[in-house]
Amino acid sequence: MDENRVGMTTAQETAQAQQHEARDETVRKKVLIKSYGCQMNAYDATRMADLLAGQGYDETEAVDQADLVVLNTCHIREKAAEKVYSELGRLRVLKRERAEAGLETTIAVAGCVAQAEGAEILHRSPAVDLVVGPQSYHRLPAMLAQAAQHRRPVDTEFPVDDKFGALPRPQSRRIRARGHTAFVTVQEGCDKFCSFCVVPYTRGAEASRPPEKVLEEIRHLSEAGVREITLLGQNVNAYHGEAADGRLWSLARLLEAAASIEGVARLRYTTSHPRDMGDDLIAAHRDLPQLMPYLHLPVQSGSDAMLAAMNRKHDRALYLRLIDKVRAACPGIALSSDFIVGFPGESDADFNDTMRLVEEIGFAAAFSFKYSRRPGTPAATRAAQVEDDVASARLHALQALILAQQTAFNRATIGRTLAVLVEKPGRHPGQVTGKSPYLQPVHFDASPALVGDIVAVRIEGQIANSLSGRLIGHGAATHASGSRPAAVALASGGLP
Ligand code: 5AD
Ligand code: SF4
Repeated sequence: MDENRVGMTTAQETAQAQQHEARDETVRKKVLIKSYGCQMNAYDATRMADLLAGQGYDETEAVDQADLVVLNTCHIREKAAEKVYSELGRLRVLKRERAEAGLETTIAVAGCVAQAEGAEILHRSPAVDLVVGPQSYHRLPAMLAQAAQHRRPVDTEFPVDDKFGALPRPQSRRIRARGHTAFVTVQEGCDKFCSFCVVPYTRGAEASRPPEKVLEEIRHLSEAGVREITLLGQNVNAYHGEAADGRLWSLARLLEAAASIEGVARLRYTTSHPRDMGDDLIAAHRDLPQLMPYLHLPVQSGSDAMLAAMNRKHDRALYLRLIDKVRAACPGIALSSDFIVGFPGESDADFNDTMRLVEEIGFAAAFSFKYSRRPGTPAATRAAQVEDDVASARLHALQALILAQQTAFNRATIGRTLAVLVEKPGRHPGQVTGKSPYLQPVHFDASPALVGDIVAVRIEGQIANSLSGRLIGHGAATHASGSRPAAVALASGGLP
């Protein structure tokens, strides 16, 4: 209890609370954080929101009401980076309109475009008040104070201080408002230097958070009601966090420790590199019931010539061997990947190798992109750039194949009973929606009181990329990989 309240009557407490609120209302401001790109950006956006909440900012979705707009940007492909400047153009107009109404607006550019372009953004976009890279956003409060004095600060350092250690612990109330699934960044940066990719330049060298810090964050999330945690890293399976005793932990060890935290029903991790897919991690897919049967393992191409040109450090055979091992450890696992088509020098035969690889493996989902030249990366200056219409046709063919595989994967779950983590009320009254172990959205009729529970749902149909089903069990459902009969699944764990 607040010490000031000792000895107060309820009426006095109420009056004090009202005064606090009234004062808060006059001083509190509004922030809109617009996040682009990957899940790590989404995680950073939540950490920034938590930090700014302590600085007097409440979140809003209405851009014209925002006293502070943060664009948390993505630099991975040209289109993503271009979006930032068109958005800044719109914000400039808005800032002027608000100024005419006597309102100040601060515009911050964060994320990977901030990192890559730094002060250049201030020159190109006069409306921008501050630029903060992904490793520096814990310094936002001080930077906002500088921005208020029109000093237009830029911070794109890779500081030695611990960003996560400097960020406030999110309040339970704020965690609950975000639902029952959460991301936790465990690793940042990349040392692989694929020849097309900006990540090693924007996010820097590989660094892993200490396991104790990660586990403490997971414990805190779990205590606030989070049931599913996704461990994030640009190269998450290269995780090698140093524990207090000086030992290095692998991702498999971290997952095992996370699984033993009470309340953690489901674990996922993304994104992985084939070269770092260790046997212990593969074994975790067999041994850890909380680890969901889903693996996102980007291959980028099925052609050895392209893989070498991409500096991927693995070939087609290694990838196929890994997939065999993973499937042996976890039969029925949903596999996902990333592909790039139209990489410099890609011939029809190379592209054909990619199509054959996809046919051979059979993916549950996958992302595919046309190669985008990124200044400063080795592939950007290669002579044999592929014509855009050729790349478009390849992308179209690959996406059609992937969609057919995704549809087949989803169809194969019809008639099965899957454990579904109920995430939110559905679009129609009386309906809820959640995720299967394979990350498929599942809609079914049930009470919204089930949100946050894991229930057994019999899958009955497929609508585009989601499934529809019927609730058949509640009260003791689990992680259930879905590959086991429902009775076993329901008996093998328990809800608190
Ligand atoms: N062009 C197209 N796609 C890219 N990716 C990364 N860099 C590029 C690029 N220059 C894709 C890769 C990666 C995913 C996150 O984005 O497939 O796995
Ligand atoms: Fe980029 Fe390659 Fe590192 Fe992935 S592994 S972040 S594609 S350089």
